[in-house]
Amino acid sequence: MASPPVPASTYHLSRDESEALDTYGRGSNPTWRQLESALAALEGAASALTFGSGMAAITAVLRVLVKPGTKLVVPADGYYQVRRYATETLAPLGVEVVAATAAEMCSAAADADVVLAETPVNPTLDVVDLHRLALTCRSRGATLVVDNTTPTPLGQQPLSFGADLVVASATKTLAGHGDLVAGYVAGSHSDLMALVERERLLSGAVLGPFEAWLALRSLGSVGLRFERQCHNALAVAVMLRAHPAVRAVRYPGLADDPSHELACRQMKRFGGLVAVELADAAAVHDLVARSALLVAATSFGGIHSSVDRRARWGDPVSDGFARLALGIEDTDDLVADIDEALQAR
Ligand SMILES: Cc1ncc(COP(=O)(O)O)c(C=O)c1O
Repeated sequence: MASPPVPASTYHLSRDESEALDTYGRGSNPTWRQLESALAALEGAASALTFGSGMAAITAVLRVLVKPGTKLVVPADGYYQVRRYATETLAPLGVEVVAATAAEMCSAAADADVVLAETPVNPTLDVVDLHRLALTCRSRGATLVVDNTTPTPLGQQPLSFGADLVVASATKTLAGHGDLVAGYVAGSHSDLMALVERERLLSGAVLGPFEAWLALRSLGSVGLRFERQCHNALAVAVMLRAHPAVRAVRYPGLADDPSHELACRQMKRFGGLVAVELADAAAVHDLVARSALLVAATSFGGIHSSVDRRARWGDPVSDGFARLALGIEDTDDLVADIDEALQAR
C-alpha cells in the first residue's frame, strides 16, 4: 500500500522537550526516511540520505571530505558540473583539484586524499576498475566516493567493491519520468554519514516531501524500466555499430567494446546510455529532426528516448558526438526509427 507524503515544514514538539524524531522540515521528514531506506537497500548500504538534487548530494559530500591542502581527484571525462564545482568553488579555497580520465583514475588516486570516481563515465561510457581503485585508495587511506548515477544500483553496487560512499542523481533512471530533481548519498560508515547529514541540515539543500514521495513511487517500476532501457540500448548499439552513417559507438554491453571485459566483472547490467559519434553537429540535429521517437533533451533515464549533443555543454568530445538515452519504447520500433532517421541523410 502507498503511504501518503508528509508535507510538513514543522512538527508538534512535546512538553518534556526531549529530542523528537522530527522537529523541522530541513532536518528530517518521514517520507524521506521511506525513500532513504529503499535507496540504502538498493545500494547495499547501511543508510542513505536524500538531497534536493544529485549536485546537492555530491557537493555536500565534498564539503565534508575536503579542506585546504586536500588532494581531490575528480573525473576529467565525467559529468562536467562536478568538475566545475571542484575547480570554481573548492580550488580557490586551497583544495588541490586533479582531473583524471577513467583510464587515469587509479594512478591519480595513488597520492590522493579524496577520490570521486564515476563509472561508466558520462558521456563517453568508459569504465573505471572499481576494485583496483578501492584497493589503491585503501592502501593510501584515501576516501573513495563513487557517482552511481549512470548505472544505477541495479547496474552496479560500488560499496560492494570497497567504495566508502555512493553519491547519485535520482533525477535520472530511479525517478525515471522526467518530472523531478533529486539526489542521494549512501554508505555504511555511520560517522561519515552523520557528518553528511549534518552538512545537509546546515546547508539546507533538502528534497521536497512530494518529490520524495514521487521518487519512492517510481522505485516500484525501476526494475522493469531499467531492464527495458538496457535491452533497448544494446539493440540500438548493435544496429549503430553496423550503420554507415556512424563513425564510432561506445556501449559497455557490446562484446567488442574496450570496457566490456571490465564492465562484465563489476556491472550487473550495462545501462540505458549509448555514446555515438556522427559526422558533425548537423548530423545529430538531422537525426533528431527525422526520428519519430527521439527528442533532443539533456538528462537521461526517462521513459522516452532522447539525444544530447554533448559538445553543446562543453564536454571534451567532438561536434558530432551524441549521447543517446534509451527509453522504454518497443525495441523493434526504436531500432527501426533510428536506423531510418540515419539512412535518410
Ligand atoms: C553522472 C551525474 N552525476 C550527477 C549529476 C547531477 O545530478 P542532478 O542533475 O540531479 O543534480 C548528473 C546530472 O546529469 C550526472 O549525469
